[in-house]
Amino acid sequence: MNAQADAAYFDALYADADPFGYRDRWYEQRKRALLLASLPAPRYARGWEIGCSNGETTAALAGRCDALLSTDLSARAVALARARVSDMPHVTVEQAGHPAQWPEGRFDLIVFSEVGYYLAPAALLDMARRLPEALGDAGVLVACHWRAAFDEAAQTGDAVHEVLDALPALSRVYRYRDADFVLEAWSRQRASVAQQSGLR
Ligand SMILES: C[S@@+](CC[C@H](N)C(=O)[O-])C[C@H]1O[C@@H](n2cnc3c(N)ncnc32)[C@H](O)[C@@H]1O
Repeated sequence: MNAQADAAYFDALYADADPFGYRDRWYEQRKRALLLASLPAPRYARGWEIGCSNGETTAALAGRCDALLSTDLSARAVALARARVSDMPHVTVEQAGHPAQWPEGRFDLIVFSEVGYYLAPAALLDMARRLPEALGDAGVLVACHWRAAFDEAAQTGDAVHEVLDALPALSRVYRYRDADFVLEAWSRQRASVAQQSGLR
């Protein structure tokens, strides 16, 4: 799919306000809880959530960020996400297709969850190359992806994570992988959570 086809595909999907079952499906609730629990810091000054869908993860991340920018290719997803976080003034939801469009500034948290496999391989490489530039010095890039191939995906989640794991600017902070999904984080910060907390 190209960017326009992607936007049309996702706009049609969001005729249903929760097409992936983010609100009610235990699989999604558990995955979101693991993602949030794994974040190395209790709070982030400026987060960027890429591909925010209907805003369920947005609302959860909002509780950990002083300011959160959430972006999505689909105008309908953006409308749903804005409605979901309408009582959270520190969250901004913008329509943008990445990597063609790119936000200003740097972030100390970037969440790239269930989006990477939709990108064509060249766009994913471009995205991956630019993500470290958008990450502050101690910032963390978190990615989470479904591992199995599916029709709309240009590549598997595992392939997306291989690209991110090969970025020379960043080191892996953690990896959780089960039969269904992979959750990983990378940073320039090499101190562990225990070291940052003065435990060792
Ligand atoms: C499967 S949902 C992921 C939702 C959320 N990140 C999560 O993990 O719960 C994928 C979302 O990414 C958006 N998306 C796909 N390609 C994109 C791109 N190139 N730039 C921005 N958003 C994109 C879609 O519109 C869709 O809402």
